[in-house]
Amino acid sequence: MYQVYPRSFADDNGDGIGDLRGLIAKLPYLEDLGVDAVWLTPFYPSPLADGGYDVSDYRDVDPRIGTLEEFDELLRTGREHNIRVIVDLVPNHCSSEHPLFQAALAAGPGSPERDLFIFREGRGDAGDEPPNNWPSNFGGRAWTRAADGQWYLHLFDSAQPDFNWLNPAVPEFFEGVIRFWLDRGVAGLRIDVAHGMFKEEGLPDLAVPERSNRPNSYTHRPEIHELYRTWRSVLDSYPADDYPGERTAVGEVWADSPSTLAPYLAPDGLPQVFNFELITSPWKAPDIRAAVDATLALAGGSRAPWVLGNHDVTRPVTRLGSPEAARAAALLLLALPGSAYLYQGEELGLPEVTRIPDAARQDPRFHRTKGRSVGRDGCRVPLPWSPDGPAYGFSPADSPGSPVAPWLPQPDGWGTYSPPAQAGDPDSFYNLYRNALRLRRSVPALGAGALRWLESPDDTLVFARDPGFVCAVNFGSAPLPLPAHDTVLLSSAPLADGTLPPRAAAWLTGTAE
Ligand code: NOJ
Ligand code: CA
Repeated sequence: MYQVYPRSFADDNGDGIGDLRGLIAKLPYLEDLGVDAVWLTPFYPSPLADGGYDVSDYRDVDPRIGTLEEFDELLRTGREHNIRVIVDLVPNHCSSEHPLFQAALAAGPGSPERDLFIFREGRGDAGDEPPNNWPSNFGGRAWTRAADGQWYLHLFDSAQPDFNWLNPAVPEFFEGVIRFWLDRGVAGLRIDVAHGMFKEEGLPDLAVPERSNRPNSYTHRPEIHELYRTWRSVLDSYPADDYPGERTAVGEVWADSPSTLAPYLAPDGLPQVFNFELITSPWKAPDIRAAVDATLALAGGSRAPWVLGNHDVTRPVTRLGSPEAARAAALLLLALPGSAYLYQGEELGLPEVTRIPDAARQDPRFHRTKGRSVGRDGCRVPLPWSPDGPAYGFSPADSPGSPVAPWLPQPDGWGTYSPPAQAGDPDSFYNLYRNALRLRRSVPALGAGALRWLESPDDTLVFARDPGFVCAVNFGSAPLPLPAHDTVLLSSAPLADGTLPPRAAAWLTGTAE
């Protein structure tokens, strides 16, 4: 699965914003890279208070990104390239510009319109204290006061009011949205804040008013699992015999422990729930081994989706401290049983862009924390598609009046990461991913083969998948003598005298014990 952040992927019309036509034109690139499906982050009409996760119309395409006809064309052309498309469903909150929220504001306290959201009177004699102590995930408090004095809840930005999922009209509304996209032919959904939505009656104060992945009054509520059973039956009600076949869903669930995650993976629950362990665990052999074991104990086969990066976290090259470590991580990710999610640009080895002028930053987290958190713009910089030229090929060079600058500035030299700059170098990041994805298709063990750990020195991990595949990862600083093998299929760094250098991984064939 390849995650596309549409506004940063490819711009077809030269306005500096990525669009559906840009993505359609890159489908051959994605097919050649070896991806099976694309997850499209929100492309719906939105005031962009949170990069599109503030949706003002759930059944349309933002005119800056395209049209519904172009969306249908994306699905059609995707099929020609054997690429399915899943869309991002944002059910916890909408945009404050959404007609339902505007109607709620207009209708006033006590109205049925307000009951679709979470409005409450404030505390204190004048009602000017928020109704409880919940914090916003983006910094500051989770409540904003409306003009008439009531407060509304927003676990994210004040422009993202939370829906009241205990009102049956809300699940009904979203079932309509889900069917709208499934009827158009999408292969499934990525569910935003999938551990959220339901809130405890009475909205009690948190004992410790801090963000956490532990179950609390607004995360991992028990009602959520009943909802997912309903959604699963909607997904399963679409016939699987017509390409794109079975419909799926992957939940964005940030959990503190496997036991919190487990109920989401009930047989009639969500088909997939992200494992964020390769992002959250320290990059050390024992931690990664424990994370892999914990995940595989919960969910086998394709129900375990692995991920190294996305549009919310620092890019792996920067987070793991070096391009070498990120290359090793890529081979680990792609060798684990389960499905693998790649975030656009990972295959190019893009680093996090750290030098973005404050004035250009867009992430509400940057603004709501008054810059204490730089936010997530650094992993959302528009992709380079050519070594040079305006916007490094992100926008077409020949658009009338030359392209408008990309919506987030690209750093100097960004074009050295572009596919054509890497294609001719067999050792490039791009070719590592491309080769690994080809092997992942052709080596049977990388399909259903179970994982078996083999003994290896400290700071290293070696595992087999049957039949006949071995992956060795060196997290340490000493060279790792390769385990017994027949051939080296691929390595993330040149091997020296049969040893794997520090911060490297290799794929081998052989019948290792
Ligand atoms: C998770 C999304 O991935 C993130 O980008 C967004 O800001 C929040 N959910 C709120 O929708
Ligand atoms: Ca555009």
